[in-house]
Amino acid sequence: MRQLLTAEELAAGIDRLADAVRRDCGGRPLTLLGVLTGSIVLVADLLRRLEGPLEVGMVWASSYRGAVTQPGRLALRLDLLPDLTGRDVLLVDDIFDTGRTLAALVAALRSHGAASVKTLVLLRKPARTEVALVPDYVGFDIPDAFVVGYGLDYDGAWRNLPEICTLEPADLSSPPGSPLPLPQAE
Ligand code: IMP
Ligand code: MG
Repeated sequence: MRQLLTAEELAAGIDRLADAVRRDCGGRPLTLLGVLTGSIVLVADLLRRLEGPLEVGMVWASSYRGAVTQPGRLALRLDLLPDLTGRDVLLVDDIFDTGRTLAALVAALRSHGAASVKTLVLLRKPARTEVALVPDYVGFDIPDAFVVGYGLDYDGAWRNLPEICTLEPADLSSPPGSPLPLPQAE
């Protein structure tokens, strides 16, 4: 396991993201929608940097990953959605990998009557994009490696790391549940 982004670098990135959102939204009411489960840490940090009328909601998405890094069938659950009629929505996710999750969610939210839907991601792997959608706000472009921490998991683990780390191929082939080595600084 290798450290890719420190907690300090992440905090500076979220400052930049929040500044950009504040600049663009000009104090208008906003509905911030987090994608469960990976976005929970980002949502908590981002919303405390925003001012003005703000509503928070959550949707759930999961792309089943048999071999962990290979995306599979996408499942969405929108039953926790607040009323979006006429609302400006900011959809927030941890990572834009192939982009299929966010592209599907944007289409679904538009059909729920949102006035506008913008997208914000902490991380993007540009080498993996498979959709035309370009996120409106991106914290960090990263190489094509599997990452954990700051909300992102490997097989349910490591969401509570305060930094972003890459998993090495040997970590990915460990049997599920086996302990992984602690992060090493670069
Ligand atoms: P996409 O639909 O391929 O863009 O996949 C997005 C979702 O896959 C994210 O919301 C994450 O839950 C998960 N994901 C993609 N890449 C990683 C990664 O490197 N680490 C952990 N989760 C990932
Ligand atoms: Mg996710």
